[in-house]
Amino acid sequence: MMKELQEEISRLKKETGTAILAHSYQSPEILEIADIRGDSFALSVAAQQLAAERILLCGVRFMADTAKLLNPEKTVILPVEQAVCPMADQIPPERVRRFKESHPDYMVVAYINTTTRLKAECDVCVTSSSALNIVRRLPDRPILFIPDANLGGWLKRQLPKREIELWDGCCPVHAAITARDCERMKARYPHAKLAVHPECREEVLAYADYVGSTSGILDFAERCEGDVIIGTEKSISDWLSLRHPQRRFPVLSKKLLCSNMRLTGLADVYRALNGTGGEEIVMDPALAEAAKRPIEEMIRLG
Ligand code: 13P
Ligand code: SF4
Repeated sequence: MMKELQEEISRLKKETGTAILAHSYQSPEILEIADIRGDSFALSVAAQQLAAERILLCGVRFMADTAKLLNPEKTVILPVEQAVCPMADQIPPERVRRFKESHPDYMVVAYINTTTRLKAECDVCVTSSSALNIVRRLPDRPILFIPDANLGGWLKRQLPKREIELWDGCCPVHAAITARDCERMKARYPHAKLAVHPECREEVLAYADYVGSTSGILDFAERCEGDVIIGTEKSISDWLSLRHPQRRFPVLSKKLLCSNMRLTGLADVYRALNGTGGEEIVMDPALAEAAKRPIEEMIRLG
């Protein structure tokens, strides 16, 4: 049944001239039918270079919005309209506007996990894999980093000479992990390496052998020989376990499930392709113009 649906999706992709972009957190059956898989940075770069006239983005809303910002003339579809990242609207855009008015010397750097309205207030976006590179290349001015205080705190520790102000956003999934989870899993798998996403708290990153984006964690685990404890969404462990059945990729905690990333199934992809489901991303042109700038700047510097 699954194979038949995948074949039907591949046929519809060709018929409708659609490219499927899937974030690394999507299920293996979606990753298998995707034209491009990767972390948020890779998907943004790919979206900018695509020849296809239609883009189906399997992930969460800010990813589909980013693809639309980079391709205003193309049709961009999010298969499940409820798939949103809860971190994206933790900071009201008006708060950033007020901050800029009172701190004109600051640059506002936004994690890409933000709404389009928030992006429009910022100077540059970053992703977890590009943040360090990009911030290193920014002019020597103080930075307000929003919304993820954990990713921002990690950046601050990598760049101790930079003045970086953090606000109080976080990913509810990664921020729920604690040092106790690390101790428990290190005791259970004493020879395993630990790879974690920088959205985790500092106390968790302190135990890590590797800190990086979803693609970075996949690459690290591929390069290692033994078991690797996965400190990010469980889907990364599922994908690695399928590719390397002889190795173990235990998840750092049972809490590492992003319900939003898990909303999209093959049937949703099918319905979005045959026109009976999904949401086409539509944007106000003036807002899109303002929000596109920090995304293009991210790709230029990243
Ligand atoms: P990446 O930058 O690794 O794609 O992460 C996005 C994300 O939402 C992680 O929770
Ligand atoms: Fe957002 Fe966290 Fe889910 Fe990533 S894992 S999409 S940051 S809620």
